[in-house]
Amino acid sequence: MLILGIETSCDETSAAIVKDGEKILSNVVSSQVEIHKKFGGIVPEIASRKHIEMIIPVIKESLKKANIGLQDIDAIAATFGPGLLGSLLVGLNVAKGISYARGLPFIGINHLEAHLYANFLCYPSLSPPLIGLVISGGHTELVYLSKKRKYETLGTTRDDAIGEAFDKVAKILELGYPGGPIIEKAAKKGDPEAINLPSVHFKSNTLDFSFSGIKTAILYYVKEIKKRGGLVPKEDIAASFQMKAAQILTERVLKAISLKGTKKVILGGGVSSNLFLRSFLRNKIPSDVEIFFPSLELCTDNAAMVAACAWQKIKEGKFSSLFLNAQPNLKLVVEE
Ligand code: KG4
Ligand code: ZN
Repeated sequence: MLILGIETSCDETSAAIVKDGEKILSNVVSSQVEIHKKFGGIVPEIASRKHIEMIIPVIKESLKKANIGLQDIDAIAATFGPGLLGSLLVGLNVAKGISYARGLPFIGINHLEAHLYANFLCYPSLSPPLIGLVISGGHTELVYLSKKRKYETLGTTRDDAIGEAFDKVAKILELGYPGGPIIEKAAKKGDPEAINLPSVHFKSNTLDFSFSGIKTAILYYVKEIKKRGGLVPKEDIAASFQMKAAQILTERVLKAISLKGTKKVILGGGVSSNLFLRSFLRNKIPSDVEIFFPSLELCTDNAAMVAACAWQKIKEGKFSSLFLNAQPNLKLVVEE
């Protein structure tokens, strides 16, 4: 079965063709990063306009790369949330239009679920129960999967998402946008022990996250140095922040493992492409626990994960109505 997946929830216009939920025939991603860079972050209005411009060429390219035509497609899937409303609407409406015109089944996909599902695409024999952690620009969600697409929330962020924290710290350090890859690169030259950043302590024994205090501590640290006319140690700050972020995420994952007695962990979302975090986690988890990350190109936003997730929903008989609307605040729960 050939599924055309479409992803436009944020600033990447992507279309992919995936065969039987496992074989990627094409995965075209057109990034708007160069446009938004000038503004230091995503400008929603510009993002949706750019999606309108790019969506048809991107779909055409995905078909061309897969060496097929629209007549060969068996089903069409698109992200319907969470994300930027204007951006979501572009991919969703194009998918609905093709579905209607061609009489193809349509499947709406939860973006957060797709990020986790990228693991099943990369490792087809992987099976629950497992702990899942979505770490992206807009989300930090720790969940327990008793089976595929069945989630129990264990922890979530109380303020900034982890990717957002990377982006904001990069902004404070005037390093550019998007912050994640830039911080990772700068951190390589810095000392992760150089700056003592605050630890987050909640009163209850929660698995929730908080990153805004660390970001604020960095903001004041930098302000203070600048006030004294000193040189901001950007690389040391980047390394110390990245280390702190890795420690917090690892600590929660370890707690989740022991809470659920699970021996497998999957990660997904843009921040899971961070190689320092990957090796930090691998070194800290018990040796009998397996940890899985999607391939680097499947960590950040892409449509292959959307098409793969749709395959699973099709197997479960979960098709969507053409009345499905975009849901910018959609949570990581199975929408029935
Ligand atoms: O999953 P994603 O592409 O889009 C969302 O769903 O948000 O994630 C984007 C986020 C951005 O905040 C970006 O800075 C972060 O992922 N990111 C990284 C890295 N690559 C992307 N964060 C840390 N290290 C990276 N290498
Ligand atoms: Zn994403």
